[in-house]
Amino acid sequence: MDFDIADPSLAADGALRIEWARSRMPVLDSIRERFERDKPLAGIRIGACLHVTAETANLMTTLRAGGAEVALCASNPLSTQDDVAAALVADGVAVYAVRAEDADSYYRHIRTVLEAAPHITMDDGADLVTTLLKERPDLHPIGSTEETTTGVIRLRAMAADGVLRFPVVAVNDSATKHLFDNHHGTGQSSLDGILRATNLLFAGKTVVVIGYGHCGSGVAARASGLGARVVVVEVDPVRALSAAMEGFTVTTMANAARLGDVFITVTGNLHVIRGEHFDAMRDGAILANAGHFDVEIDLEALAARSTGKRRLRHELDEWKLQDGRRVLVVAEGRLVNLGAAEGHPAEVMDMSFANQALAAEWLVRDGKSLAPGVHRLPEHLDGEVAAIALKRLGGGLDLLTDEQARYLGSWEMGT
Ligand code: ADE
Repeated sequence: MDFDIADPSLAADGALRIEWARSRMPVLDSIRERFERDKPLAGIRIGACLHVTAETANLMTTLRAGGAEVALCASNPLSTQDDVAAALVADGVAVYAVRAEDADSYYRHIRTVLEAAPHITMDDGADLVTTLLKERPDLHPIGSTEETTTGVIRLRAMAADGVLRFPVVAVNDSATKHLFDNHHGTGQSSLDGILRATNLLFAGKTVVVIGYGHCGSGVAARASGLGARVVVVEVDPVRALSAAMEGFTVTTMANAARLGDVFITVTGNLHVIRGEHFDAMRDGAILANAGHFDVEIDLEALAARSTGKRRLRHELDEWKLQDGRRVLVVAEGRLVNLGAAEGHPAEVMDMSFANQALAAEWLVRDGKSLAPGVHRLPEHLDGEVAAIALKRLGGGLDLLTDEQARYLGSWEMGT
């Protein structure tokens, strides 16, 4: 660590960043006001494993406004904003995270959060719940919340194996989370990360997007908007068809490997870009990962083909292959939007974290009656979150007339 977490100027920088993010988070702010009044989380200990960003800081202070005591660690070793961590610490929040921490420190911090015996855990990727289930049979939280697609997939696998012993709210599955955060948030912030690391002109480049779910389709749309020729690689036929109908070239990874100037993995799966693909790439190909874990680009296979690497720019490594070609990797193959930029903009995190706060409140109120397993937040909350967010954008919501409401409620239509 080359800074002091107790440094007041670092904390002051973080406080400004948090204040700016808060000014873009009206939905969370409206929940904060209600929490301040009603204290629905009084006496509740929350252990959170989330990206330590300005947006997360606003979630932490909202939970605290509701009466909770919070302890926070990082959900990725490279995503912590140290100034934000310092500001939270200065504000009395327990934060265990430092940018670029190693695996030992990352898991030590997760265990430290669990030492507080949280009533509720909050995850982005399910590392906290996984550690709890493996190492702390003595802990019996009311429940947990999960922010991201990878975490939800992991939790469903735990439920199928019969090891998930409490309810988890899949915040990711709320419409006001995945339709906005995953698509618009990942789309914009992943390109932001690549641009900050490379200062590349996207216009005219061939950009290969691997994975066309909510996140990948956002990345493809934004790359196309910047003038890139987008090539999509997908294993799901419906998603592949959807990419084709957006006008993108859809092909195999073996074929795409020869075509791309830039490759962005957004699959949540392992070794999506691997040895044979590096062998086929053009000199100077740029690789970035927008999936949760740093497993999508097989860096071991890249290292095995390389004579060495050097850091060219902030979060940009150049690998020299034995045949002289170069491959550039952004943010060490970790989540590019948080490793090389600042993550999703506050506007989308506003809705995601509003859902997180509502999920915590729901667990406190009704968690004891929820069965162990993965649950969605009640659907009406999507409408409430979206209506506030729409207002911020200046959009007016129309209302059905009484006649129209009656028509939709009847089965005698068309007459
Ligand atoms: N995940 C993606 N972007 C994020 C952000 N800005 N804050 C917290 N988690 C995130």
